[in-house]
Amino acid sequence: MTTKNKIFSIAISLSAAFFSAQNNTVRTFNLDLKETSSAVKIQPTMYGIFFEDINFAADGGLYAELIKNRSFEFDEPFTGWKQPNTKTLSPNLDSGFLTIYSDPAKTNRNYARITILNDKNYILENEGFRGIGIHQGEQYDFSFDLENVSGNIAAVNASLVDENGKEISSVSALIKGKGWQKYTAVFKSPQTVEKAKLRITFTGNGIVNMDMISLFPKDTWKGRKGGLRKDLVQKLYDLQPGFLRFPGGCIVEGRTLAERYQWKKTIGNIADREYLINKWSTGFPHRLTPDYGQSFGLGFYEYFLLSEDLGAEPVPILSCGMACQFNTAELVKMQDLDPYVQDALDLIEFANGDSGTKWGRIRAEMGHPKPFNLKFIGVGNEQWGADYIERYKVFEKAIHAKYPDIKIISGSGPSPDGEFFEYGWKELKQLNAQIVDEHYYNSPEWFMKNVGRYDQYDRSGPKVFAGEYAAQSVGVVKPDNKNNWLTALSEAAFMTGLERNADVVYMTSYAPLFAHADGWQWTPDLIWFNNLKSYATPNYYVQKLFSNNKGTDVLKIEHNGKAISGQEKLYATAVKDTKNNEIIIKMVNTDTQAKTVNIKPGTLKTGKKITKILLSAPQLSTENSFDAEPIKPKEEIYETKNGEIFTLIPANSLVVLKVKIK
Ligand code: AHR
Repeated sequence: MTTKNKIFSIAISLSAAFFSAQNNTVRTFNLDLKETSSAVKIQPTMYGIFFEDINFAADGGLYAELIKNRSFEFDEPFTGWKQPNTKTLSPNLDSGFLTIYSDPAKTNRNYARITILNDKNYILENEGFRGIGIHQGEQYDFSFDLENVSGNIAAVNASLVDENGKEISSVSALIKGKGWQKYTAVFKSPQTVEKAKLRITFTGNGIVNMDMISLFPKDTWKGRKGGLRKDLVQKLYDLQPGFLRFPGGCIVEGRTLAERYQWKKTIGNIADREYLINKWSTGFPHRLTPDYGQSFGLGFYEYFLLSEDLGAEPVPILSCGMACQFNTAELVKMQDLDPYVQDALDLIEFANGDSGTKWGRIRAEMGHPKPFNLKFIGVGNEQWGADYIERYKVFEKAIHAKYPDIKIISGSGPSPDGEFFEYGWKELKQLNAQIVDEHYYNSPEWFMKNVGRYDQYDRSGPKVFAGEYAAQSVGVVKPDNKNNWLTALSEAAFMTGLERNADVVYMTSYAPLFAHADGWQWTPDLIWFNNLKSYATPNYYVQKLFSNNKGTDVLKIEHNGKAISGQEKLYATAVKDTKNNEIIIKMVNTDTQAKTVNIKPGTLKTGKKITKILLSAPQLSTENSFDAEPIKPKEEIYETKNGEIFTLIPANSLVVLKVKIK
């Protein structure tokens, strides 16, 4: 017997033994599998990613820069920097001091003027994003811009030091000439440290100006210099997402209009991108993060590139002239809306125009002559009320007049029901809106109760983008929310309803995506990371199982002629994958009792081999962590019996079954 056959037969006998042992208690459901009467296609965009710079998702997270406030642009320009031997920030005769110079004509205004009085004593340190994570055996690109102003400073010496100040690795750059120049060096790390610091000292006394002090791992995603953190992108890639929505979320809107996300300020030369405070730095009084800014090193060009790398449709969401209605709710006057609309038109040209167009040329000069083939654009994020509809109409008219093929995503506010939601949907329906974004953060019970939410939606109305959702174990924006198995299981149950209604639901994404273990503001989140590693939550694995197995066409899976949508806490969806020639059935059991199912494929002729993927947990309260992922898909192989698919769906589990079509 080959090893593979042995595994098959062990799996079959284990399953059989379990069924007979449970025979008296386990209820069997006879289910029928059928083609739908008219074809229901699953959109390639069905399962995607929602990215927002919340919880240190960009700076300190996906964007692999390790130096916080690298160009001294924060409102408090010393943020992240310390001079341990300088007693006050005023001149100190023993060592030296740093002052901030500013050029208001520039977008990157500030730079540091460093006066060295005693080079034996002066130290400048950067703390990174809650520390600097470095890995043994890896290399790090260190760089800075420097102008030698006066004196005899001959070298800049930099070292990585551990939490106790012990040196781990060091480099030196000899100063050449007078004007501003870029200097580079490479650190090699002999050890792994989670919370290292960068320490800078000088050889010689005098005055230098410094800016853009930067440190990146060499080993980034696709090895791009100044690129993205590899382990985090890998997790996104493994989701096989149909789209990447960016840059949010409320960050699109800003606390005020001046603080809205302006994509044009996030492209071009990295050093010229204008810093902006992050909205979430003051998002919640219980999780204030005053050291949370946006360098925009991860800007719109990089988001498009990331979408391309992931094989995902880019879905940019733009400000519609309304600041966050939970904050100032500032509104741009209708007569002043043009620049906002122009931003949307220019973005489409930036993504899709050839290099003969103004914005297409900028994209080409940044290194991507080929268009990004943008198909979707979002107008506003979580807006509500008549002010939104009035502004949406202007955007819609202008965008479709110039780009009739671009699909516009509109919003229905922050809740999945209620006055604002009803009003938004009624108006958007009348306007023949194409795709309406819905957001729901709610209890696990809500998710299980609302599996049939889209069963009754108007088939001829706008399509749905379930653009932000996540089950909350405690309550919305509660700091104690957990990514436990109960939340993930309830989302899995809910997702069977999304998939069954793929003729209405075109796009879906869990939110938020990322959270830094020491820098978060909002829980729960799909992927958690620290300065060294990351882990996938149970919610991530639910997303992955649905997304990796989305299929191409919806099938009917029924019990006594009815969709399986909560009968005895069982939920199911089935699809055909015409590319891989297989049937995929997803079943969720939220009961404390296991169930067996006997699925009759009817006229669908199936092969013998069944791949069964099981996601379950010891307890509903079980979570994954940096140390262990107890909740992870497990695969087994067995065979059909008399052409039927018979299997056990354990208590509180998600099961994915895959069978080839003959
Ligand atoms: O996902 C976090 C926030 O929740 C988003 O920024 C916003 O759109 C929603 O209220």
